[in-house]
Amino acid sequence: MVVAGRAKKVTTHTLQEMKRAHEKISMLTAYDFSLARLVDEAGIDVILVGDSASNVMAGNDTTVPITLEHMIYHAKCVVNAVDRALVVVDMPFGTYQGDSKLALKSAIRILKESGGHAVKLEGGIEIVDSIKRILTAGIPVMGHLGLTPQSIYKFGTYSVRAEEEEEAKKLMSDAHALQEAGCFSVVFEKIPADLAGEVSKSLEIPTIGIGGGPECDGQVLVLHDMLGITKQFSPRFLRRYASLGDTIDAAVKKYISDIRSGDFPNNDESY
Ligand code: KIV
Repeated sequence: MVVAGRAKKVTTHTLQEMKRAHEKISMLTAYDFSLARLVDEAGIDVILVGDSASNVMAGNDTTVPITLEHMIYHAKCVVNAVDRALVVVDMPFGTYQGDSKLALKSAIRILKESGGHAVKLEGGIEIVDSIKRILTAGIPVMGHLGLTPQSIYKFGTYSVRAEEEEEAKKLMSDAHALQEAGCFSVVFEKIPADLAGEVSKSLEIPTIGIGGGPECDGQVLVLHDMLGITKQFSPRFLRRYASLGDTIDAAVKKYISDIRSGDFPNNDESY
């Protein structure tokens, strides 16, 4: 914890140093002020304002419908809470693919209107032009390879990616293309652990795994999943650190029964 412990504010440079010092990077999602504050105070290195907000916050089946305005709103709520963590904001579907000028405009809006520190984009070689143009404005970019949920309609499933040799080779070359384009880090989602380890070793930039095994330079989970708030989603890579869904259920049931029995509010809770 030498590098992370020294950092009053985590920057992209801190993450690079952590990789060099073999210190693991911790990352979690957050979408609102209250939870972002708790996560930041607990000492997380990176907060991702993920487009998983589309599922977790809005109840959509995919990440496809979330808009730039929604992402800016969530990112601003998180930025208002954070003192130390690096805040990375997902660029939503349709705001960067196939049009590098649009990508730059979208990234500038995210940084200017939310105060976030960096953006994350899904894809490899096909989005390198967008990444390079965003970098011309001095906006740090995180990549995302493997399972890329914005392409769900292309792949049709959320299964493990890059198990076949050809796809594994493409992932290796995409990761290097992202590094050469100037990304400061890359997320590997749901790929074989051996492949993630091999690519991580071959890169200078830190890799962050979600279902990418222990040899990635850091790990990320969706906060609501690891806290046990979203109970229906349980992929193999998910470790639950709390059962807040059950805690909330019990608390709400007790509240309802206290109202019905006349126990709440009592004299001490009244004016
Ligand atoms: O949107 C998100 O939460 C993500 C993580 C799964 C990495 O992109």
